[in-house]
Amino acid sequence: MGNTHIKIFDTTLRDGEQAPGCSMTLREKVRIAKALCDLNVDIIEAGFPAASQGDFDAVKAIADENRGPIICGLARCNPDDIQKVHAAVKGADKHRIHVFVATSAIHREYKLKMAKEEIIKSAVAAITLARELCDDVEFSPEDASRTELAYLAEVVTAAIEAGATTVNVPDTVGYTVPSEFDNLFRYLKKNVPGIDDITLSVHCHNDLGMAVANSLAAIVAGARQIECTINGIGERAGNCSLEEVIMAIRTRAEYFELETGIDSTRLYPTARLVAGVIGMQIPRNKAIVGENAFAHEAGIHQHGMLQHHSTYEIMRPQDVGLSETHLVLGKHSGRHAFRERVKELGFDLDEFETNRAFLEFKSLADKKKNMYDGDIEAIIMNAGSASSGPWLLKSMQVSSGTDQPATASITLVDEQNNEISETAEASGPVEAAFQALESATGVNLTLKKFELHSATIGDDAQGEVTVTVEYNNQPHRGHAACVDIVEAGSRAYLEVINRILRRRQRGMDKVAVEPDVNRVPI
Ligand code: KIV
Ligand code: ZN
Repeated sequence: MGNTHIKIFDTTLRDGEQAPGCSMTLREKVRIAKALCDLNVDIIEAGFPAASQGDFDAVKAIADENRGPIICGLARCNPDDIQKVHAAVKGADKHRIHVFVATSAIHREYKLKMAKEEIIKSAVAAITLARELCDDVEFSPEDASRTELAYLAEVVTAAIEAGATTVNVPDTVGYTVPSEFDNLFRYLKKNVPGIDDITLSVHCHNDLGMAVANSLAAIVAGARQIECTINGIGERAGNCSLEEVIMAIRTRAEYFELETGIDSTRLYPTARLVAGVIGMQIPRNKAIVGENAFAHEAGIHQHGMLQHHSTYEIMRPQDVGLSETHLVLGKHSGRHAFRERVKELGFDLDEFETNRAFLEFKSLADKKKNMYDGDIEAIIMNAGSASSGPWLLKSMQVSSGTDQPATASITLVDEQNNEISETAEASGPVEAAFQALESATGVNLTLKKFELHSATIGDDAQGEVTVTVEYNNQPHRGHAACVDIVEAGSRAYLEVINRILRRRQRGMDKVAVEPDVNRVPI
């Protein structure tokens, strides 16, 4: 019997984070890396260290925590990138350098302006250097699916001879279809000497909605590593969705005869965590982790479900970590029950953070009839983002009506107990509150997007607001939740203002404000 284990290489923090609107702070990346460890992924691609100092620091912080999975960083085929990856990942006992260069005719001619032989030479030099630094080296011929098969086999042969231990085949632009990809993998298996001694990997983008199907075709044809992201986030239409590909392999085990080490009960909490961190809601009908994925509306379906769940259900909600009710704790729940639920939801809080979140939970439970998982998630997300000043929102009053302009008065307080109050008038309450915040702090932002989402069900649900603003021509995102949606929006706005002020205090305002500002485009 052949090798039936499929390694899961998660690239949420690299390819996922590269997508517009998905950038994360170092703290957020470390939090997600912990959740990926709990999910039991085999490899975490933590970033692209040469892209920016922020990327480097995040990869290093994740590697230095050394929690189990192989920690990997991405590099172009040049010594500086490779050395930076090595410096960032070497703190982890198990680490990997991932080098890539494009191989398709389109990329050779228009992007790289390099001949076929030059590309092979640069790949071989890069892999050789990476192997001097690290035993575990992955090579990716970018745009492999649009590369001539014979040339692709030549590149992969040279990569293996140079010491690559994993060869990854990317469908960079989401162009291939399952039968064609099957053919490509079988061709490589047949025509590349030594291919059975390395791990063959697949990396699919979702431009035509086939990333999961193409990844599955690749493992049937012999790939033993899948590169994917939580919620399928990534460039353009995203990457292969981790939760979908995992549940396909698990639910159709009798077909694939393959397995992964993923703890599927962590899928739902991890998906919610990532969605909350980047402020990108999961579509209701998203397979596996969408709100409707396990909801049965039609009468005929409900009737069948009552007779036996397998009539209309191919997976159990518990298998993906979805609790039956979502109705969790009440105001009489104790700290222990709260801590346990927080853990089940995929958060790893220290004692101080747990205590602070618990106090907020109690105070919210006094205001709300029912408390749900979404409330706990919102509290933790709030704490994660609003924890550092300089300014805290002490109080706010807002008035608005059909026949009058809206007015907002806010009072902010800093650590030294300095208070500042401002009032502003505008056509709506949110605009008035934002203007008052700007006058109080002296930071002027341009609002680009205001997204509101209900954290749970019920008329007393917390509103989760994500604001996207522009400052110094750079996008920034703030996130907060509160039962009062104007207050939630104001806290989200203040979160961005505080981040900018902190950078100013450190004298970095002109250098970079968000972690990805100086990022080198791949
Ligand atoms: O899509 C792609 O080709 C990539 C490579 C860098 C692996 O992300
Ligand atoms: Zn990619």
